[in-house]
Amino acid sequence: MPVTDAVIPVAGLGTRLLPATRSQPKEMLPVLDRPVVQYVVEELVTAGVRRVLLVTGRRKRAIEDHFDADPELGSSPLLDPASGLQILYTRQARPAGLGDAIGYGRGLGATDGVMVALGDAILESAGNPSLSRRLIDTFEAQRPAAVIAVEAVAPERVSRYGIVAGPLEAITGLVEKPPAERAPSRWAVAARYVFAPRVLDALAGTPPDAGGEVQVADALNALIAGGERVIAVPLGPGERRHDIGTVEAYVATFVHFARADPRFSALLDG
Ligand code: UTP
Repeated sequence: MPVTDAVIPVAGLGTRLLPATRSQPKEMLPVLDRPVVQYVVEELVTAGVRRVLLVTGRRKRAIEDHFDADPELGSSPLLDPASGLQILYTRQARPAGLGDAIGYGRGLGATDGVMVALGDAILESAGNPSLSRRLIDTFEAQRPAAVIAVEAVAPERVSRYGIVAGPLEAITGLVEKPPAERAPSRWAVAARYVFAPRVLDALAGTPPDAGGEVQVADALNALIAGGERVIAVPLGPGERRHDIGTVEAYVATFVHFARADPRFSALLDG
């Protein structure tokens, strides 16, 4: 069965973007003319996803309103039945980490695998097929426990990301935010995954870390230790992950897309 289900976790508190996120979800911050989460949903639809579960939480209602039909404003093209997309919502009981949020995908009933896309990261893709499509294709062809997107980052940035160890065809583990001198590679996990249902089961059984958050890395490391295969797929030329999780990253992302768009680039040079 093809992978047509996806989970987009959008329940994080967005504390690094305060005060912008006091009442507004960070995933609703616009980049040019659209909120970030719309880029994510559009990317998934292009990759063949037909059902999306948005894992929301407190102060996140604007996301549901955004994708709702509105008699005064008109409907979103994404909601047009012709798009073939079904959007579902559930609420994370408390912000107990990304791993906990993804675990809500178990309720989706995905039998063969589920795409996971972080709601606060735009994946710029010049390639055809797109990165998300390549992740799904790799998963469907090889049926590992997980396929994860990875991006090469500069040594001084490895301490911000989950970093993979071992050959990309079968990684030997993941290390969360290692100091540069202890990073096993420069391949950083890049906000997109495809998980077999057993990964969602493993997340449900993974204890929270000292900070009270369930870490994806802990669940994947346990599966790898048990002999499961996890494949890392690198971003290709022209592909880039753009986070908006900090003010600096948000500004850099906005300016990058403005520069790349002839409608706005001239505004930046004045
Ligand atoms: P982050 O860890 O970057 O988001 O999660 P955060 O917790 O909102 O960030 P800060 O540290 O408070 O600024 C990446 C993605 O995972 C979601 C977020 O909404 C974001 O899209 N997430 C994170 C959840 O859905 N639930 C969580 O418990 C944590």
